[in-house]
Amino acid sequence: MRTIDGDKLLRRLEQLGSTGRNPQGQLTRLAATAEDRAARDLLVSWAKCAGFDVHIDQIGNIFFSLMVAEKGRRAKPIMIGSHIDTVVDAGILDGCYGVLAGLSVLEAIRESGVDISKPIVVAAFTNEEGVRFTPDLMGSLVYVGGLDVQEALNKVDIHGRRLGDELRAIGYLNDKELPFGYPSKYVELHIEQGPVLHSAGKSIGVVEGITGISWWRAIVEGSANHAGTTPMKLRKDAGYAAMRIATDLIDFARRAGSKAVATVGSMHFERGAINVIPARVIFTVDLRCSDEAGLKELEFALVDIADRVSTEFSVSVQKEPLARTHPSVMDEAIAEQIEIAARRRGLPSLRLVSGAAHDAQMLSRVARAAMIFVPSVGGISHSPAEYTQSNELVNGANILLDVVESLARQNV
Ligand code: GLV
Ligand code: MN
Ligand code: MN
Repeated sequence: MRTIDGDKLLRRLEQLGSTGRNPQGQLTRLAATAEDRAARDLLVSWAKCAGFDVHIDQIGNIFFSLMVAEKGRRAKPIMIGSHIDTVVDAGILDGCYGVLAGLSVLEAIRESGVDISKPIVVAAFTNEEGVRFTPDLMGSLVYVGGLDVQEALNKVDIHGRRLGDELRAIGYLNDKELPFGYPSKYVELHIEQGPVLHSAGKSIGVVEGITGISWWRAIVEGSANHAGTTPMKLRKDAGYAAMRIATDLIDFARRAGSKAVATVGSMHFERGAINVIPARVIFTVDLRCSDEAGLKELEFALVDIADRVSTEFSVSVQKEPLARTHPSVMDEAIAEQIEIAARRRGLPSLRLVSGAAHDAQMLSRVARAAMIFVPSVGGISHSPAEYTQSNELVNGANILLDVVESLARQNV
């Protein structure tokens, strides 16, 4: 059985993971920053060194490709993809694993000399995490035509810096057309980022669907006043109101069942002083559910709770939608191929639904899309403690190789 070069994959993961760290040693590689540039440059240098063509598109997505003999050039490619931007204080695997495994798969297929009938393209999509610019999944969303490129380039970060200017400054903006069209099939390999595979003792996750996500920013406005002299009944306390909305919403999700989750991940108090009643609070809301009806219930709950709290606490509450994706379904035929590949390699597999967002959900709008997961030890991710055992990382990349190779040989 053919295999990828496991040692090389692990070395590259470590090297990419040490790129873009801050002076405290944290990995915070937000989209279109100098840190992102360093990681992009490293990835591109590896791809070029390995002899693959590199292309950058209008939103800074990076693609590298293994082309085929003349007759297959017009065929729709098979695409492997993920991202190399990170959250704040991240681990080294989220996204990077899928992109680097893609590079390993291209190398293994080329070195084997196996006859493939269509191009294979690896993509590293811009701003998957959406930490600096919203919406998340931005590069893949623009790529599939779900967001106008100019609208995306005009998005600004909290300092008012425009994405288009930032991408140009790091040298990753291009208006040349890509030499290939949409892929017929898209496969993304990723760490699970949750506890299911690890606790079940399974090596390979076969993803059936990806959760829907609804992101909001809320601004609560009350009145600043003296913390000592203002009686409790006479306050317009934006802080208390914001915390009440957050806790009531999270309580709602706790009662709604295991598919629904709600997170208030950031809350900013103005004026932020110990003895001043907060006049203004800005906070974010992340709602997720793997079925659309459940996600809508969470959204209704946010609206109801905000209205009630606004009246009860005499504050105003504005809600701004930041991003919205529907739950998506992965391709059943490719899921079966993943299961077959796992069986052949003697790796136990399990079907599951992803609670994290992935570029695969955007690609599923234009291609048959599938995802392969490997176990996250302890289910930890978006944290430096994110960890997957080396043998599991190599196993996952070999399954990706098997699946992509068989897709690239099929005449459909
Ligand atoms: C991305 O990793 C997300 O699920 O927010
Ligand atoms: Mn990811
Ligand atoms: Mn992530």
